[in-house]
Amino acid sequence: MNKLSHIAFIMDGNGRWGKKKKKGRNYGHLKGVETVKKIVKSSINYKIPILTFYVFSSENWKRPKSEISFLFKIIKNYFDKEISHVISQGIKINILGEMSKLPQDLKRILTKTIVLTKSNKKIIVNLAINYGSRDEIIMATKKISNHKKFKNFSNYLYTLNLPDPDILIRTGGHKRLSNFMLWQCAYTELFFLKKLWPDFNANDLKKITEKFKKIKRNFGGI
Ligand code: IPE
Ligand code: IPE
Ligand code: MG
Repeated sequence: MNKLSHIAFIMDGNGRWGKKKKKGRNYGHLKGVETVKKIVKSSINYKIPILTFYVFSSENWKRPKSEISFLFKIIKNYFDKEISHVISQGIKINILGEMSKLPQDLKRILTKTIVLTKSNKKIIVNLAINYGSRDEIIMATKKISNHKKFKNFSNYLYTLNLPDPDILIRTGGHKRLSNFMLWQCAYTELFFLKKLWPDFNANDLKKITEKFKKIKRNFGGI
């Protein structure tokens, strides 16, 4: 049985889900947040130690301004309203990505959340916001070029101190990585689901973790 430490999610399909319900893309994003909450709760029950959610990519700035500001608003509102719940559940929040480009009010609440949840031990939840894997690799390379002696490339990435994902789940039907954790997913088990993110549920998660446990992982060996 494989040990499961870290699951990463490319939560794709919110926009299509909202349009399908005839309520617009942003409605899908709102529902997407509900799915994240449910998956975090179930993962605490299943004793999964680390989750990473791809929330906003470095390429998502290409979207209409109104959609971008809606996305940032729902993240900010979530932490404004539910920070005490996040703390009481024992969730430690980390942010992966270039925070400096985010709106001030969002940056402020995210920084506050990181500080307030720093010592929480139940589960680590990484939110990849304004994250791009190629940017991350370039950033790491630049840092390394200033350090004569470096040991481990992974220590220069946003994910330093975190194990690589064991499982990557992408909903929404596309079989691609969209610039997500290209370095970290070298040996990750990939699961692509047709379901749109708002329809993803705890049972889907359970089925995937059970499948994962039985996979023969080689890491180049036999
Ligand atoms: C969510 O899904 C991903 C985010 C960038 C928040 P999308 O917004 O990409 O939804 P689709 O793929 O257009 O349906
Ligand atoms: C990936 O979804 C990014 C997030 C889930 C945040 P996209 O919808 O941006 O991916 P592409 O553009 O279809 O590859
Ligand atoms: Mg998409």
